[in-house]
Amino acid sequence: MRMRRIRGNKILRKMTEETTLRVSDFIYPLFVVEGEDIKSEIPSMPGIYHFSIDRLGEEIHELEDLGIKSVILFGIPSYKDELGSSAYDENGIIQKAVRKIKSISKNILVITDVCMCEYTSHGHCGILNENGDVENDITLDYLSKIALSHAKAGADVIAPSDMMDFRVEKIRKTLDENGFKNIPIMAYSAKYASNFYGPFRDAADSAPSFGDRKSYQMDYHNGKEAMREIALDLDEDSDFIIVKPALSYLDIIKQAKDTFNTNIVAYNVSGEYSMVKNAIKAGLVSEEIIYEILISIKRAGAKLIITYHAKEMAEKLRKERNDFI
Ligand code: PBG
Repeated sequence: MRMRRIRGNKILRKMTEETTLRVSDFIYPLFVVEGEDIKSEIPSMPGIYHFSIDRLGEEIHELEDLGIKSVILFGIPSYKDELGSSAYDENGIIQKAVRKIKSISKNILVITDVCMCEYTSHGHCGILNENGDVENDITLDYLSKIALSHAKAGADVIAPSDMMDFRVEKIRKTLDENGFKNIPIMAYSAKYASNFYGPFRDAADSAPSFGDRKSYQMDYHNGKEAMREIALDLDEDSDFIIVKPALSYLDIIKQAKDTFNTNIVAYNVSGEYSMVKNAIKAGLVSEEIIYEILISIKRAGAKLIITYHAKEMAEKLRKERNDFI
């Protein structure tokens, strides 16, 4: 009998899967807050928590047990001002969190998100001029100060998410000049001005108090522009590039993969996460949908995925491995 697909053998089908997920593909976002004894669920993101520094230990051990290798940190600072100065404070929330995680475990790669929107009183990703517009070049000085303070605290990878022009070059130069030549930069190169960040902005208290981010984040009508942004960031010596969000942007991931010889990281963002979690809760779809989604992101060409689903996926992959053997 002629057949188009692999003849009915489950093991053979498993062995010949083109796309697979490993637990080391995932980067897990962690939200850190000031205060004590806090582990509180973020209302807009079921199953995701705010942690105070003293409660990070239990979470880090859980991640290690699950085999998750990497986290990306987001901080909610104790104070905000026009210049976002809590972002580069030696005793800022991220700096403290990095030191704490490093004291708990040497086996977790710590990535820090470098941006200003969580730290500025106006909620924009940079320094504003008198017209209320973000001043690109002045902002670069602040971003590199933030990056350096993260490196000094012990961060393993710096991930600038601000979308200012030439920030990779400036951060690279600052890191190099201060003895951090070996710290890689993972630039959010193709970051779209997306509606999918809604739950995150609640979680990180980072919604702009006026206007939007369309002057510095990308317009989702455009794909080729993303290739240009990525080319420029690679030129400035970014070690990895991030495409964000992931799901409505699988074509961008694929184009980037086909165009550049680099590791592509996809950010499966908060809106994508919360929609799925709520749809599962409502009984509209099975939770298998999570696996299908993450496979699709890898199939498109992502090497790594920043995802809030990392923990539940790690459990699923472990179970699948046991069932298969
Ligand atoms: C900071 C930043 C944002 C996200 C990651 N870093 C918010 C934004 O740009 O508005 C969003 C992540 C998510 O939605 O999960 N600039």
